Amino acid sequence: MSDPDVAVQARRRRTFAVISHPDAGKSTLTEALALHADAITQAGAVHGKASRRGVTSDWMEMERERGISVTSAALRFTYRDTILNLVDTPGHADFSEDTYRVLTAVDCAVMLLDAAKGLEPQTLRLFEVCRHRGIPILTFINKWDRPGQDALGLLDAVEERLGIRPTPVTWPVGIAGALEGLVDRRRDDEVVGFERSAGGATVAAESVLDPAALSGDAAYTTAVEELDLLSSIGAEHHPDDFLAGKATPVYFGSAVSNIGVRHLLDGIVDLAPSPGPRPTAGGAPRPLEADFSGVVFKVQANMDRAHRDRIAFVRVCSGRFDRGMQVVHATTGRPFSTKYASSLFGQERSTLDIAYPGDVVGLVNASALRVGDTLYTGRAVAFPPLPAFAPEHFAVLRPKDLSRVKQFRRGVVQLDEEGVVQVLVSDRRGEQAPVLAAVGPMQFDVALHRLAQEFGAPGVLDPLPYQLARRTDAAAVGVLERAPGVEVFTRTRDGALLAVFPSPWRLSSVTRDHPDIRLDDILDSS
Ligand code: G4P
Repeated sequence: MSDPDVAVQARRRRTFAVISHPDAGKSTLTEALALHADAITQAGAVHGKASRRGVTSDWMEMERERGISVTSAALRFTYRDTILNLVDTPGHADFSEDTYRVLTAVDCAVMLLDAAKGLEPQTLRLFEVCRHRGIPILTFINKWDRPGQDALGLLDAVEERLGIRPTPVTWPVGIAGALEGLVDRRRDDEVVGFERSAGGATVAAESVLDPAALSGDAAYTTAVEELDLLSSIGAEHHPDDFLAGKATPVYFGSAVSNIGVRHLLDGIVDLAPSPGPRPTAGGAPRPLEADFSGVVFKVQANMDRAHRDRIAFVRVCSGRFDRGMQVVHATTGRPFSTKYASSLFGQERSTLDIAYPGDVVGLVNASALRVGDTLYTGRAVAFPPLPAFAPEHFAVLRPKDLSRVKQFRRGVVQLDEEGVVQVLVSDRRGEQAPVLAAVGPMQFDVALHRLAQEFGAPGVLDPLPYQLARRTDAAAVGVLERAPGVEVFTRTRDGALLAVFPSPWRLSSVTRDHPDIRLDDILDSS
């Protein structure tokens, strides 16, 4: 049944993620965004250390022990009558495939850079995933309240290293560490000054500055010169270039002082795309107004130990979701009740009754659901499987307790199905010794923890000396198996053939010696 209101509601939504290197200020920016949107009254409520206290799930324990964020929450807030869904990306150095996967659920990303550090490794990796998926990117250059790199130099780095054209929307008056205000290029170069709030706990009061009064100001004079330069090289926002991933609107600010955050929010509302029809496995996109459909992009187990539950995060792709509705689980064809649906805000769960395309729904008690599964009502649909990403860590897994081998095997199958780790097998090693492969080593910790806790079958991992994997094909297997230090595996999840290499140098020498063989970079399941 087609519902015309769905398209209207979809246009009101922006679903995005923040991609950054640890410490660039993602948590701080998240709080600042939520603060501006009046979703919280004081910064610190979402990710603050205080809110971690008293949370008791296993994941939280790991998070506390290791000081990392394991939980991926979806934040939802309203700004200028637009509903913003911010899908959190786990942000520690040893991040996991989940970090990449959540990018399949968003329509846009904010690339957050530390003004002093510029482009950092994790940002580059996440950027590549966004580029591969055609996700448009806004850039926020953070920490302008303290010394950092030169603004034009940062833009050059973005252009040269990422091959994407920076088109500044705001421009700083004052070098990093001496910010006097921001010029808004979308509002006739209006200059905005800020009053700092204590520790950025509340929104910084803004005032529009009179350019005449700034005329003798050296920083303003420099900013005007730089703006002239930007105009002369045509560094202006063009919607088509942005949506095609060829250009990135750039914002400057300080998340901790809440400076420039309002401009970024306006950018998300005004420039970022709203949800569009999602291509299906059959090819033709499912129209937004069609019956409900959604994709599971993340499954989180045991978020609340008291309930021993599993939450499946579903991105709504079409139609209207009503809590309690019976949907069909495309993989099994079975009905699934959505009585227990919640939206997650920080660690507080609240019940979500209605959702539209772009929204993220957490389905509790979702033990049948796996990452990549489609749910729908009405006409049957299945969305393409989520891509698997190039693993960088490899280890042989063995059971510790030989009397628990059956449970152990069941556990490995389950973790594989859930996408916790990738499971690789080869004739050479035999099925008894699966190799686990992961984007981040934390996935191994999670796998071992769950094998022991849920299946009573502790495992032992023997690390393998490989650093990278490439997708290959049957024609190349013979050559690759003869190459010293290289091994070829079949990934059980999708049957893909993966060649693994001990170093980038080894990979390049194999590529040099055998230029005709297939060695694909991103390991899409396609
Ligand atoms: P992350 O989630 O990306 O890992 O970063 P997070 O927000 O935790 O921020 C990392 C550090 O950077 C924090 O300092 C935070 O206060 C600081 N920070 C974030 N935004 C800004 C900014 O705009 N300006 C400045 N000067 N600092 C910023 P910390 O010392 O690690 O922790 P805290 O004790 O200050 O909370």
